[in-house]
Amino acid sequence: MARRILLIIGGGIAAYKSLDLIRRLRERGHGVRVVLTRAAQEFITPLAAGALSNDRVFTDLFDLDDEREIGHIRLSRETDLIVVAPATADLLAKLATGQAGDLATAVLLASDKPVLVAPAMNPRMWQHPATRRNLRQLAADGVHFIGPNSGEMAERGEAGPGRMSEPTEIAEAVDRLLAGGTARALAEGPLSGRHVLVTSGPTHEPIDPVRYIANRSSGKQGHAIATAAAALGARVTLVSGPVALPDPEGVTTIAVTTAAQMLEAVRAALPADVAVFAAAVADWRVAMAPDQKLKKAQGTAPAPLVLTENPDILKTIAVPGPKRPALVIGFAAETENVVAHAQKKRKDKGADWIVANDVSPATGTFGGDRNTVHLVTAEEAENWPTQSKDEVARRIVLRAAHFLAANQTDV
Ligand code: CTP
Repeated sequence: MARRILLIIGGGIAAYKSLDLIRRLRERGHGVRVVLTRAAQEFITPLAAGALSNDRVFTDLFDLDDEREIGHIRLSRETDLIVVAPATADLLAKLATGQAGDLATAVLLASDKPVLVAPAMNPRMWQHPATRRNLRQLAADGVHFIGPNSGEMAERGEAGPGRMSEPTEIAEAVDRLLAGGTARALAEGPLSGRHVLVTSGPTHEPIDPVRYIANRSSGKQGHAIATAAAALGARVTLVSGPVALPDPEGVTTIAVTTAAQMLEAVRAALPADVAVFAAAVADWRVAMAPDQKLKKAQGTAPAPLVLTENPDILKTIAVPGPKRPALVIGFAAETENVVAHAQKKRKDKGADWIVANDVSPATGTFGGDRNTVHLVTAEEAENWPTQSKDEVARRIVLRAAHFLAANQTDV
């Protein structure tokens, strides 16, 4: 379906490819309006862009004629999608910090329309921590990305990621977005360069070599969190107790059985930027599990099981120190006074956030696919709607990405 695209062309050598992009978008039946930044006009002229878009080209925030006829607010509203191509490091930085000093940035800030960004810059600029921070922020803000591709740069002898995607690739991403899909995933997600550690599943505590103490945790929520974090570009270590789930793709999964093993595996996986403790760790283990199977003896009562407390993995890792992850998230399984118990648990365990869920049998949370949770932080308790465990997972990791971007904690 023909839609209205606002194409913001930034100042880079790739700007000449954006002239071709105008043509490709119009071939697909879309109307294209063009904004050129001041720097873009060093590479291409408004005349050329206007001839291809068959419309006037907008260049200046303070052009009085334009403000009377069609100001930046109208420009940003009378469109279905904004495309920024090429998006320079400078333009990305301005967008990430909400600047509005020229027409392009003012339009972007005033808009509530989807934004697709096609970055193009020197590989060193693309890899610079400042650009990485800006990208994480923009992805957390919901901006869509296409590219960049890797290859030779305009500068002689320079190669690496930073080439703007080809016009046809961008046009295809536009159509995917307009159809309600997502653009090609950001090669570098909002959690790229981050290490996320997740515990999941139950633990099994042996009574003897054939019997054990366990609980009903399925591991679905923890595994979903690991999957969601990997999808955002994180390196993920999943330490899981015995579950009937496949190992998530793109995640390093470490299988453990007991709480003691889980603590050891978690310690070995540090440092991490974010640690999510979703496992239902057994609070107790049998004090001295025999090496041989316990035998029942006719006419005698069974020997009592003597239990001893397991280490609290969350509490151990949350202790302040150089190895403490920047964000420690625990779970609380409650059957009553869910938020109040979670607030107390957050403090007692030293966690930053607690994801509290109601596991009373009526909710079907244990083993089910949906979850009703409350996100309890130092400041507030948010009630989230009942969602699939996958949605809960995505929301948690996106919030974690936001937190890291806002606190600018770099690895
Ligand atoms: N946890 C842990 N190690 C333990 C026990 C719990 O890491 N030995 C973590 C869990 O992964 C979870 C949180 O602590 O993030 C839950 O704490 P827990 O005290 O077990 O709470 P509940 O399961 O909600 O149980 P209770 O109310 O009985 O304390």
